[in-house]
Amino acid sequence: MINTLTIRRPDDWHLHFRDGEIMRGVVPYTARQFGRAIVMPNLSPPVTTAAQAEEYRGRILAAVPQGAAFTPLMICYLTDTTDPDDLARGAEQGVFTAAKLYPANATTNSAHGVSDVTRIYPVLARMEAEGIVLCVHGEVTDRDVDVFDREAEFIERHLRAIAENFPQLKVVFEHITTADAATFVESCGPNVAATITPQHLHINRNAMLVGGIQPHNYCLPVAKRERHRLALRAAATSGSPKFFLGTDSAPHLRSAKETACGCAGIFNAPFALESYLTVFDEEGALDLFEGFASLHGPAFYGLPVNADTITLERGETQVPESLMLVGEEIVPWHAGQVLGWRMVS
Ligand code: DOR
Ligand code: ZN
Repeated sequence: MINTLTIRRPDDWHLHFRDGEIMRGVVPYTARQFGRAIVMPNLSPPVTTAAQAEEYRGRILAAVPQGAAFTPLMICYLTDTTDPDDLARGAEQGVFTAAKLYPANATTNSAHGVSDVTRIYPVLARMEAEGIVLCVHGEVTDRDVDVFDREAEFIERHLRAIAENFPQLKVVFEHITTADAATFVESCGPNVAATITPQHLHINRNAMLVGGIQPHNYCLPVAKRERHRLALRAAATSGSPKFFLGTDSAPHLRSAKETACGCAGIFNAPFALESYLTVFDEEGALDLFEGFASLHGPAFYGLPVNADTITLERGETQVPESLMLVGEEIVPWHAGQVLGWRMVS
């Protein structure tokens, strides 16, 4: 039995830091585990220009604890009016690592997102030419589409066309939640990949809706049926370089989750690696964890792997019921549970 795992330091290819005091509270959790992270731009107002991204990056770096070598990777929030020149310049200058497509009103702070994907086709063409990665929140927002079908429908209405029209464009289908998405990504060429969150590997929709409504298991896209969770576990532990780690850690204060209209998002940064590793252990795939967590992401983004390593060992991690952030409670993913692995260095 493997009891200790030393791997290249992982990166988080999708998370939310927010801004201001909350950001200063959450950045240290990610900097403890990860070398780099793609920082989502859905602030209010969103990060739409290279100048805004540079300023935001500065604020994040100021929140990194002394001694931690953590690099935030910034991304551009695409709107109907994104200027392809500013985006290309920002990428050229090393400010933007990627750009994010939020369909308008799909999730938190996405009101300024793209109203019709074909409107940004000129921007996608430029991104394809410049080698800029497209990160996609893959859910349709049409009122007539059931919330559990919104991801699968996005593939048919938009993503298949994007992949066909821009074959050289690198596309990351973010936080996939369905067997349909895993199958689609596998069926595409090497320019289409996906991130998978820890929560979608652990829970199905029952965890949100059975025995009373469970707001801390609510995120977007919502967890689906058990067969989808099993397909995601198979994809994550398949060894395929098309699937890699992206936590979608999305902090919301307890008061914003436990209310009549609760926010979507799960704050999983504090014990993200322990959470993922539990899944790989259960699947008998510990030997494939380094690829998923530390190698496939850099390879897709064309970046070097991290030089240093981390070590996790079998042992108890007691996850607190809640953490204090800006003088208010925040409930972490796995609150009150004991995980079977812990990060030791
Ligand atoms: O659950 C989610 N929370 N999904 C998203 O897409 C956005 C995120 C957030 O920013 O809170
Ligand atoms: Zn997200």
